[in-house]
Amino acid sequence: MQQIAVEASEAAGIGARRPPLRVVAVASGKGGVGKTNVSANLAVAFGRQGRRVWLLDADLGLANVDVLFGLSPRLNLLDVLRADRALADVVVDGPAGIRIIPAARGVEELTALDAADRVRLLAEIDGLEPEPDVLIVDTAAGISSNVLFFTAAAADALIVVTPEPTALTDAYALMKVLAARHGRREFLVAVNMAAGFADAEAAFARLARVAERFLRVRVEYQGWVPYDDAVPRAVRARRPVAIASPHSPASVAFTQIAQRLGSRPPATPTGGVQFFFRQLLGEAPR
Ligand SMILES: Nc1ncnc2c1ncn2[C@@H]1O[C@H](COP(=O)(O)OP(=O)(O)OP(=O)(O)O)[C@@H](O)[C@H]1O
Ligand SMILES: [Mg+2]
Repeated sequence: MQQIAVEASEAAGIGARRPPLRVVAVASGKGGVGKTNVSANLAVAFGRQGRRVWLLDADLGLANVDVLFGLSPRLNLLDVLRADRALADVVVDGPAGIRIIPAARGVEELTALDAADRVRLLAEIDGLEPEPDVLIVDTAAGISSNVLFFTAAAADALIVVTPEPTALTDAYALMKVLAARHGRREFLVAVNMAAGFADAEAAFARLARVAERFLRVRVEYQGWVPYDDAVPRAVRARRPVAIASPHSPASVAFTQIAQRLGSRPPATPTGGVQFFFRQLLGEAPR
């Protein structure tokens, strides 16, 4: 009887202990290092942990998330921002319970959101139910205003690098702007397409050393993903590797990164989606 009462109250959201919202922006500086694959596969891994996950495609002009999930959304963020559609009409369901907010492709005007677009996004996101436990934001390459905007606003910035020197220097450049212009003091780092454990650790150590020394920021390692042929194979099949080959080395690595990331206390202990988007608008202090 008591058990039934507990289940009923949890179903109604009464007394159920919801974990605080975790907002993770995935960024890199250099293009093609695996941001979209990291975002998609972390979303799947968090979804499998039973969390409510939203995945926002914030690569607004060159969206890829829908392609990776084999979706052909009828509507996207452009319809919200330009055609007055509700965000609820745009959200699509992905695997593992993920809810995906697709962006538009080939739309140059979205590559730099203006203040009115930001307000519109806030209003739409505010009204969406149910609120997620985890919001993953896949950003574009480079250090454009959109990338800085989303990455500065998210509580956690997950910087993806590969062991290549160019990926490391571009990640450093992004971290420098975020630290200098947006006051970010903490970065999470994952190394993708590494040849092995030592290769990944060495790449992380190189980046962390210069960032800590010259930017005076804290850099925290979240793990590494091996170069794995299962990833491009899955991309060609338009599925995240965690779905297409759940036991592949890359999929196992994504699960481990999600576990590590998920076990950290979120950088914003309170608040919800609204809080995140108020930060985007600069209405709430970091
Ligand atoms: N661990 C991996 N092993 C092998 N190939 C990978 C791995 N991760 C990503 N790739 C490949 O690298 C390519 C780029 O990946 P992805 O699109 O995720 O990068 P991105 O950083 O989002 O790129 P962009 O900057 O264009 O948004 C893809 O073709 C993908 O198949
Ligand atoms: Mg991408």
